This record gives sequence, C-alpha cells and structure tokens, in this order.
Amino acid sequence: METTSRVPPDNALISRLLARRSVTSQSLSFPGPDSSQLCQILELASRVPDHGNLEPWRFIVLQGIEREQASHDLAEIYALEKLGMEPSRLARFKGIIARLFTYAPVVVLVVASPQQSTVATILEQHLSAGAVCMNLLTAVHALGFHGNWLSGWITSSAGARGYFRLHGEESFAGVIQIGTAAEIPHDRNRPDLNRIVTYWPG
Ligand SMILES: Cc1cc2nc3c(=O)[nH]c(=O)nc-3n(C[C@H](O)[C@H](O)[C@H](O)COP(=O)(O)O)c2cc1C
Repeated sequence: METTSRVPPDNALISRLLARRSVTSQSLSFPGPDSSQLCQILELASRVPDHGNLEPWRFIVLQGIEREQASHDLAEIYALEKLGMEPSRLARFKGIIARLFTYAPVVVLVVASPQQSTVATILEQHLSAGAVCMNLLTAVHALGFHGNWLSGWITSSAGARGYFRLHGEESFAGVIQIGTAAEIPHDRNRPDLNRIVTYWPG
C-alpha cells in the first residue's frame, strides 16, 4: 500500500477536461497518434474500474490501408444484409459505409468481452467497457488529438461481428475515431446539474 497525502487540484487538467468535446468523423484528419502515443492512449483507456479484474474488453486497432480495406469489405457485407432495401437508398448507405473508417487516421473498436464470473454481473462488465471508451476519448484529448465515440450499423450487424472475429458474448462497445480536427465545433448544451442532481433526501 502506498502512503500519500492529498495532492492539490490540477487546474490545467480540470480546464482540459472541461474543454473536451467530440468532433464529427468528417472533420477528423491527419495527424493521428504515432505508435507510442497510441500505446499511451490505450494504456490510459484500459485503466478503468473492473470488478473482479476480469478485463472484460479488448481493442481492435485500424490504421493505414486497413481502414480503407475494412470499410470496403463492410460496405459489401452491408449490401448483403440489406438486400431488400430500395436500390438508391441502399447505394447511398453502402457509400457511407464504404467511407466509414477512412476519415480518422486511427480507429479503435472497443470490444466488450464479458466473462463468466460469480463476482461481476454482465451489466457491470459492459459498464466497465463503456468506461474504457470514455477513458480512451479523454486520453485522446489529453494527448492533444480529437475524437468521437460512435456505434452505428456495425454494432448491430452479425456480418460485422463475424468480419472482426468477435466471439461468444462479445459485442462492440464503441467505435472510437482519433485524429486532428482543423475546426472544433461549438460546444453543445451541457446538462443542468439542478435538473439531474438530488441531494438526498431532496
Ligand atoms: C455509446 C454511444 C454511441 C454513440 N453512437 C453515435 C453514432 O452512431 N452516431 C452519432 O452521430 N453519435 C453517436 N453518439 C454520440 C456522439 O458520441 C456525440 O457526438 C457525443 O455525444 C457528443 O458529446 P461530447 O461532445 O460530449 O463527446 C454515441 C454516443 C455514445 C455514448
């Protein structure tokens, strides 16, 4: 056990966290994190509460040409899964999927990988995977990059599951896109604490 006394607040960190916001996929471009920055981002991301130390999550990283290849392959899978769709609509959505991973230089798929456990419930394990996604986004921001957390069609597609070799009870917790945005959007309205906080018993 390490002994410690309370450290003073890190105001720079607080300001940085208060400035974090997502950017759209289309506004993400190069540069992305290099391999050592990406390792640091993933290390920070996986530093989450994890009931039972089950590590019920893992990462699939897409970068370089693999982003284009995977987007192309997924567009074909999408078309096969949506055979009944009206053709012009299908062509439009297939085109969107064909560009899915092509904007951000690095895309990380966070896979929730729940384990058999008598300690942690499945819900707790999924919450831990959600915490990984959020930590990942925060780490991206801390290193000076921009990102977003998306779900979309792949998270509900059996074909996409198979393509990325998810097994058993695994599912996609999030698609995290990482890059640099030329323009940062205005911040969205943030929650009003008066509306969401109850100081018990109220
Ligand atoms: C689990 C999860 C899935 C999401 N999936 C999408 C999505 O597929 N498409 C989308 O436009 N936004 C999606 N969002 C919302 C974006 O992340 C959104 O841009 C974000 O909430 C903006 O808030 P921020 O600026 O605080 O990051 C998702 C959010 C979460 C938590």
